[in-house]
Amino acid sequence: MSEVQQIKSRQRVQDHGEVFTNPREVNAMLDLVKQETERIDSRFLEPACGDGNFLVEILRRKLAVVHRQYRRSALDFEKYSLLALSSIYGVELLPDNAARCRERLFQIWDEAYTAVCKKSRLAQACREAAHYLLERNIICGDALTMETETGEALVFSQWSLIGSRFKRADYSLNGLLKAQPPQPDQVPLPEAPRAQQQQSMLRKEPLVEQTSLLDQFHLTAQNPDNKQEEPASAQPETDEEGRLLHEYPLTDYWRIAHEHQPLARPGL
Ligand SMILES: C[S@@+](CC[C@H](N)C(=O)[O-])C[C@H]1O[C@@H](n2cnc3c(N)ncnc32)[C@H](O)[C@@H]1O
Repeated sequence: MSEVQQIKSRQRVQDHGEVFTNPREVNAMLDLVKQETERIDSRFLEPACGDGNFLVEILRRKLAVVHRQYRRSALDFEKYSLLALSSIYGVELLPDNAARCRERLFQIWDEAYTAVCKKSRLAQACREAAHYLLERNIICGDALTMETETGEALVFSQWSLIGSRFKRADYSLNGLLKAQPPQPDQVPLPEAPRAQQQQSMLRKEPLVEQTSLLDQFHLTAQNPDNKQEEPASAQPETDEEGRLLHEYPLTDYWRIAHEHQPLARPGL
């Protein structure tokens, strides 16, 4: 496991606390939620993601599972590798780090994709879809003020695979964090060790909140009874507290980049 260069300059450490984490520590920490890192659609959000040391490793683990399960079908591999990518989110203050993070994630996805789907007629469209997902999911902004450099709210898209199509629903980070944390009996708990679950409940923290933040809020805000999701309507929808900003029509996975025009964001 090669070490990363942990520091770019003393100035950046002083100004932004920029110290990168080595793969050994990254892996040891991810092993604490190993099951989640190996679930293709578990959602991870890293609020100070740097150039992606954690997110890159999460994607590697998810893609290894996609490869094991779907390498015999290019169509399935495309769909599920995009689903894996779509579940990874980051916020980073510095534009060069955010851009590098997207680049690294794309490279890993593309290598895995190319190995299995060399002959896909959808290859170009899938690569565009992957770029588009990364543009939306890895945001250059301030995780503390929850705004971009130009003062716009940080908005995350939740992607759900329904058949061969993706559903997109946009949430502001601010709205997500204001939403009531889910109660233990509303959310199916991951299989964390029992002692860890009990400690977490005593502290009144949602379990593995980073790994399924959007999942959990979606369940409580949109789906209090934990029912099967309805197919998305073509109309924009807002929940009673305005947390869901916009919902998009279902889109074939390879068409994402064309049917959802990217929003202009600084640092992209
Ligand atoms: C300690 S480094 C960690 C980077 C990465 N998570 C890793 O472990 O390699 C912290 C990162 O957070 C970024 N950062 C600092 N303040 C931030 C803020 N308010 N919002 C988002 N990112 C921030 C820095 O630019 C830096 O890249």
